[in-house]
Amino acid sequence: MLQRIVETKVAVYTYEELSESQQKLVDAAKAQVASAYAPYSGFQVGAAVELENALVFAGNNQENSAYPSGLCAERVALFYANAQYPQVAVKRLAIAAYTNGAFLKSPVTPCGSCRQVLLETEIRFDADIEILMYGTDEILVLKNVKQLLPLCFEKSSLQQ
Ligand code: THU
Repeated sequence: MLQRIVETKVAVYTYEELSESQQKLVDAAKAQVASAYAPYSGFQVGAAVELENALVFAGNNQENSAYPSGLCAERVALFYANAQYPQVAVKRLAIAAYTNGAFLKSPVTPCGSCRQVLLETEIRFDADIEILMYGTDEILVLKNVKQLLPLCFEKSSLQQ
């Protein structure tokens, strides 16, 4: 039996260490938590997407009394951006979460379904999407979605 190790390289930043455009995107994600619709979980998530043309689209989680009908902040922001600019690649995405009166100390990380949707966008435009995950203690940065979803199922998996 062989063993294979799959590694993910995660960069750990302070807010001050981020570039100006990274800071701007984190700020946009943080601003979105205030308008999240999260009456059931009380867990308010904000996401912001920066496109290659420098435009920023932001969104937040939208819950529903029929729980699975709701949608995560990442997909709200990403679908919004892709719907407005279907020809423009996504450059980076930032997320932040707020609950019990404070932003999370440990960075919030995207759920599995959002990772799959992010991967689709990365492959669709054949361009890395940088992922910034905000926490008050630290900010995690991944260079692309593949780092977030190793051993993924994607378009090319259908063609083997
Ligand atoms: N949620 C997000 O919006 N993004 C994530 O990355 C994790 C979870 C939302 C879904 C639901 O509205 C609430 O947070 C609790 O799971």
